[in-house]
Amino acid sequence: MCLRRVVPLFSLYFALVTAAGAHQATGFKLTEPTASGITVWTRITRDAERAADDRPLPITQIFDRTTGEALRLRDNAAYPNGRPVITFPAGADLGSIRGAAVGAPGQTRVRYRRVGQTEWLSTAWRDVEPTRDFTTTFALSALTPATRYEIIVEDRASADAAPTSMTTGGFVTAPDVKADAGATFCVMSCQQYEDRDRPDGFAIYPAMLALRPDFFVNTGDAVYYDHGPVHALTLALARYHWARMYSFTTLRDFHRQVGSFFIKDDHDTLTDDSHPGARTGNFTFADGLRTFREQTAPSEPSYRTVRWGRHVEVWLLEGRDDRSTREHDRTQTPTILGVEQIAWLERTLAASDATFRIVITPTPMVGPDRASKDDNYSNTGYAVEGSKIRELLARYKNLTVITGDRHWQYVSRDAVTGIEEWSVGAATNAHAGGWDEKTPRPAHRFLRTGFGGFLSGEVRPSDKGVRLSLRLHDTAGTVVFSADNLSPR
Ligand SMILES: [Fe+2]
Repeated sequence: MCLRRVVPLFSLYFALVTAAGAHQATGFKLTEPTASGITVWTRITRDAERAADDRPLPITQIFDRTTGEALRLRDNAAYPNGRPVITFPAGADLGSIRGAAVGAPGQTRVRYRRVGQTEWLSTAWRDVEPTRDFTTTFALSALTPATRYEIIVEDRASADAAPTSMTTGGFVTAPDVKADAGATFCVMSCQQYEDRDRPDGFAIYPAMLALRPDFFVNTGDAVYYDHGPVHALTLALARYHWARMYSFTTLRDFHRQVGSFFIKDDHDTLTDDSHPGARTGNFTFADGLRTFREQTAPSEPSYRTVRWGRHVEVWLLEGRDDRSTREHDRTQTPTILGVEQIAWLERTLAASDATFRIVITPTPMVGPDRASKDDNYSNTGYAVEGSKIRELLARYKNLTVITGDRHWQYVSRDAVTGIEEWSVGAATNAHAGGWDEKTPRPAHRFLRTGFGGFLSGEVRPSDKGVRLSLRLHDTAGTVVFSADNLSPR
């Protein structure tokens, strides 16, 4: 064969590999940063970008398994005895419906270096796992504390193919536990796909990124499986919910640049107020737990602490796994955190020497909340355990509670124990709701209903002491309320 023919054949080969592709339409996530490590979550997608918004949606129907009766799809509803029937319009499939970004086989690797260094470190290439939605995670270790790193995630279709996608990003590691260092962080909650406020996702992501947070906490309801025209009634549709959400440019840009901690809540596990053992259609609570881990790479167990230098320790609480069942609640005291987590909370709060203790909870501990609700410590159904937890938290000065879940922003103070709770609110104005009163009640230091936003925190040591500033922001990032707490040296 003469050389003139070899060259075009080679070009054709690479063109085909590129077309087959290994892409990152759902970007990558950086999770669980510590002083010495971070987890890099990667996923290979078949296509470079999500399916366009003019693509059709599947038709979701659900029938009672016993009677065969067609059931109406309603927001916040579960269908424990439902048989789902998913119909794709002509020319559409799971990979091409609106917002889709299906996974694909291939290999991925992570390259990283401290900012300012010339040499890159690299992981080995690794296959993504088809049984885990074509994701894999890399645990980077032996990193330097309080240091900014650059990162590149590369994908290729197979071991002998050239890389076809490359995404860059960066993160910062936590300061050492003894370091007299500051911290900035953002906390958000409750992002519903149908309520997004930009074609490319959510305005709060660039607003949070502009604050250059060291770390970020999503307190739950990152997707709403049980809302909109397509409920996650199957595992494939649950993964579709994650893919269409995390393929938005605003989310991809944020998550490739900020280390994150994900807490799950009810809607991103299964359905509204879901408990262990529950199911909807063909999707079970156990499937929901696995899918949450698959998509957000949290460390185990799901209740955990984050240490960020000498002055900050954060508690991330688990609000779903250990809830008592309705049957249990008829004869015993209802629980949310469960015996083991409460013992852990008591032990770790007592052991902490951080200047500020920040407890981040997926559901409120203080409230007030509506009388109609019965899913958190501010509701009467959990009054006994709620009093016990609030009394436990009140033992510590310089302890603040930050809650997700409620779709309005507030800062409140418990009349009995004095502990303070900051509610970060819904991710968009369209998703705000729940509490309609405009006038603060006596428990409120601040109340803002009808609008979304997020929370940011900043810890700054100085000669005078260590200052914790908490701020509630609107969706554009403008501060709507702030308060400072100075801890003298
Ligand atoms: Fe929510």
